[in-house]
Parts: sequence; structure tokens; C-alpha cells
Amino acid sequence: TSEMEASTEVAAHISRIIKKNSESGKNTKLGLATGSTPILLYKELVRLHKKEGLSFKNVISFNLDEYYPMSPDASQSYVKFMNEHLFDHVDIPEENIHIPDGTLPKSKIHEYCLSYEQKINELGGLDLQILGIGRTGHIGFNEPGSAPNSGTRLVNLDDLTRRDASREFGGKENVPTKAITMGIGTIFKAKEIILMAWSKKKASIIKKAVEGRVSGSVPATYLQHAENVEIILDKAAASELT
Ligand code: F6R
Repeated sequence: TSEMEASTEVAAHISRIIKKNSESGKNTKLGLATGSTPILLYKELVRLHKKEGLSFKNVISFNLDEYYPMSPDASQSYVKFMNEHLFDHVDIPEENIHIPDGTLPKSKIHEYCLSYEQKINELGGLDLQILGIGRTGHIGFNEPGSAPNSGTRLVNLDDLTRRDASREFGGKENVPTKAITMGIGTIFKAKEIILMAWSKKKASIIKKAVEGRVSGSVPATYLQHAENVEIILDKAAASELT
């Protein structure tokens, strides 16, 4: 399939979950990703809201990650990204939006991460987690070396991840060296996980993630152990699979 078709399908799936939960008076808890991968998905969700009456009033969102340090007003912040691509265009209540806070002093981060994790748990866990994949094999910003039971925490970004982000920051030296990310364990607690990847650029890491040995050196391989995972690829990203 193409990125466009796949994104439309995932949006329709999300829309069905939201509607079904809303009908029985329940909230839908969504784990969301940023980056280039989910852009068309968010575009389609905005279209479903504007043209087909899909309401986000009962959606509670938790984003996977944010650079650290990062001001929400900076053009590279994930707060900006989410507002621009989704939140500004739908009726999600502002208090339902959660994105890791990149402005906290270091001394407050540990406690903050525990509370982020706890909030998700108290709400009964995520109904669906959307994931992209980095060329290091990261999901969220869980870089190589991340433990399978890791929780929300402050992490160091891989050199390759910082290089891949260098365009948005006008040079690798301007890319933060750290981020706050949900852990692999956090992601695994979601009822359903959808990982999406598009383009030739992702073909070799997708091969490792799907067919490689499960190992902390490619964190996405942990998904091989999860039962509720769907991996959605376009033709190019799937091109190295056997
Ligand atoms: C973003 C995130 C990352 C990205 C990954 C792919 O919130 O958690 O894991 O999904 O770096 O980024 P793109 O989609 O820009 O190729």
C-alpha cells in the first residue's frame, strides 16, 4: 500500500475506536507520535473532524516524547508540532493533552516522569499507541540499550538520531542531546500498538526490527514479543523484507 492509503486506514481505525468508546460514555486514550511519519494520519483525522463530524471531546492524548531541554514555543518543539498538525484543528479539550514537559529543571524530571506514567495508568492505560521508527531502531526516543521494562524517563539521543534531526535545527550541534520519552514498558502496556514506516530510508531498519534477533541494540525488535502490534508499511519500507 501507499503512505496515503495506509494513513487513511489507520485514521479510520482510530475514528471507529473513538466513536465506539464515546457511544458507551468512555474516553479514548491515545498515545501519539510526532515526526514525518504520522503527518498524513493527522491530516486525515482533521478531515474526519471537519467533514464527517468526528469529535475529539472524549479523547485524552499522551505524546511519546519531547526534546530536553525544549521550550513549547520553539519551532522544533513537539508541542508546536502537535498543535500545528492536529490539536489546533480538532475539538480536543486542552486539559486532555499531555506532552512531556521539556522546560523542567533537571531535579524535577524524575518525579515528573513517574507522574506521567501514573496518569496513564490511572486512566486505565492507552487504548492505542501510534509509533514511528527511527533509523537507530528507536521507538519513542528509546535508543539502543533501552531496557524492555523501561518507563518514562530522561534519555540521551543517539548521534544518528541527532543527525537525522539536524535539518529542523539548522545543524546537528543545535539538536538537544537529551529527550524525555515514554519507556518501552510504557508503550507495551497499550492495548494496541500500530507502528508505521514509509520510504526506502526505513527499509533496512524495518528488516532488522521485524526479522532480526530480539535485542536491546535494536529496541523496535522488542515489538516481536508483543501480541497486539500491527506494523504498517508502504512498499518501499517493506522492500527488504524476505
Ligand atoms: C517521535 C518519535 C520517534 C519518531 C521516529 C521517526 O515522537 O517518537 O520515534 O517516530 O524518530 O521519525 P520520522 O517519522 O520523522 O521518520
